[in-house]
Amino acid sequence: MSETDDALALAKRSGLPSEFLYLRDAFPRDRWTAKLDETAAFWLQMHASFRGHQAHMDGLVSQWRANGDAAALHRQLIPALQSFLQHLDGHHRVESGRYFPMMRRIDPKIGAGIDLLDRDHDAIHETLEALFQSGLAFHQAVTGKAPDAADKANRLSDLIDGNARPLLRHLEDEEDIVIPLIQLRGLHRI
Ligand SMILES: [Fe+2]
Ligand SMILES: [Fe+2]
Repeated sequence: MSETDDALALAKRSGLPSEFLYLRDAFPRDRWTAKLDETAAFWLQMHASFRGHQAHMDGLVSQWRANGDAAALHRQLIPALQSFLQHLDGHHRVESGRYFPMMRRIDPKIGAGIDLLDRDHDAIHETLEALFQSGLAFHQAVTGKAPDAADKANRLSDLIDGNARPLLRHLEDEEDIVIPLIQLRGLHRI
């Protein structure tokens, strides 16, 4: 990986570089409110639900850290995590498998920006895999009444904390490319 790519890695960057922002400059966020294309509006809705999922899990982790109730954490967090993992994985598959290739054809100039978003998906996928394994380990520790359930809860909590920043970064950067592209170019032009 080149130095430039590395500086743009999801874990490091604080936004998209200017060369990928021409779409958002042409259709800035303050115009995303009314009469958005249906697909663009749905995209934003999906992203809002992932932000909500993450915030909900962050809240459960904070409660756990305050009250140390591993059984309550288990009861609430495991179903929330399962749903989050399933929906986010499905969302990324549709984006990388269906929409991104379409967008590359519609606006070849944004190809490198789409490459960046695809790399984000790979990075997030690794985290989702770790969250799945850690969630399973916590679940098994609680149901098996293992003495290290609290350790497993802490490990899972750290992963959930660590997922927040890169996930939110990706959602925002993706929107800056995808929403104006759909709105300005349309998905059915090709
Ligand atoms: Fe994405
Ligand atoms: Fe997305």
